[in-house]
Amino acid sequence: MTVSLGHNNREIADAIKKQLDLLEFTYRSQFTNEPLEELCRAIAALAPGDLDYVSFANSGSEAAELALKMASSYWGACGRPTKQRIISRWSSYHGCTIGALSMSGNAARRREYSSYISDCPVLELPFCHRCPYEKEPDHCNLFCADYLQKMINRFGADHVSALICEPVTGASGAGITPPDGYFPRIQEICRKNEILLIFDEVITGFGRTGTYFAAEHWDILPDIIVFGKGITGGYSPLSGIVVRQGIHEAMEEKGVKFTTGHTFSGNPLACACAMAAISYMKSHDIVKKAADKGLLLEKKLKAMKGCCPLVSDIRGKGLLWGVEFGKGGTGKTLFEPEEGVTEKVVKACFDRGLIVYPSSGYLDGVYGDSVLLSPPLIISEGEMDSLVELLEASINDMATNLSPGSEA
Ligand SMILES: Cc1ncc(COP(=O)(O)O)c(C=O)c1O
Repeated sequence: MTVSLGHNNREIADAIKKQLDLLEFTYRSQFTNEPLEELCRAIAALAPGDLDYVSFANSGSEAAELALKMASSYWGACGRPTKQRIISRWSSYHGCTIGALSMSGNAARRREYSSYISDCPVLELPFCHRCPYEKEPDHCNLFCADYLQKMINRFGADHVSALICEPVTGASGAGITPPDGYFPRIQEICRKNEILLIFDEVITGFGRTGTYFAAEHWDILPDIIVFGKGITGGYSPLSGIVVRQGIHEAMEEKGVKFTTGHTFSGNPLACACAMAAISYMKSHDIVKKAADKGLLLEKKLKAMKGCCPLVSDIRGKGLLWGVEFGKGGTGKTLFEPEEGVTEKVVKACFDRGLIVYPSSGYLDGVYGDSVLLSPPLIISEGEMDSLVELLEASINDMATNLSPGSEA
């Protein structure tokens, strides 16, 4: 998921070494540095529309918190200080720090810290395979998107600053991908109610779904994009947000400085590393190739599903795919959590040398079994074949390890 350009990429490693000989650190409130400025320009050029202003942090969690604070500072600059509440969705993950965890709709990860966090998740995901609102996908008229309006009405638009979403769900729902009309409807509701739309692209950004940002898949423009993980190919910690021009201008006009940040925000080593990763992606046409590879992987996974009665759903985009398990012939019946189906598949894969990410309990905090596949963007076709073969063998292993009668 993070080492999207593979290990031992000499171009990226050499760029870090070169920067180390030039300058290792500057502090953000007194200084800028060349790699930081170059990276800001590169991100602004890659990000959709007028998302042109960048602020850096070190982890995805910190960047999600930057987005939260940016939304609040923006509305403050607009003279609307009551617009503070963030709305988020269940079965989502935005990070482990308290603000980011508050926004995360990952029930298991929230439980232990419930006394510290606030309740941001109020919407369900657009999950047509098992609609959380129990609607029929062909007749629902995007009920899940319209539910946002209901929530805004309850809180009052004057008290809501932003909605944060993962465009394609990562760890908290393995590859759940909305129907095409979902995000355009969500954007329409956000605009109508003057609420910022934040896309958390920590997983999906920088090529993972076959575009630089997943927002490009729909005819929409988020106000803030959060990025992390793949921007450096895993060679250095770096994350951040990129925001629309209007947000920057409103704050500048009112003299509101966005001074929040960390000691290592915009660190020259990390920025030189990210610049080298982006240059590598561009010069090797990695993102376009990831889109083509994604189509191939989708075909291979869907062919595998046909042979595995315990696979109930294959979903995702580009090189981010979820494989969900269920029983009862069509796979529609859920496994009991005590069966430990997800863990069994993850272990069987690991024993064969295939790393898949566990995602369970996403339906209600208890039920739901799936694994997430997120291979490096440089995966070859032969490696994709191995991936699918190893996964299929591991699922068959899990099937033979189920308790008697549980497959029925
Ligand atoms: C969508 C998303 N946002 C935020 C985060 C948090 O990133 P980090 O682990 O770098 O703090 C993650 C981590 O997996 C994530 O998947």
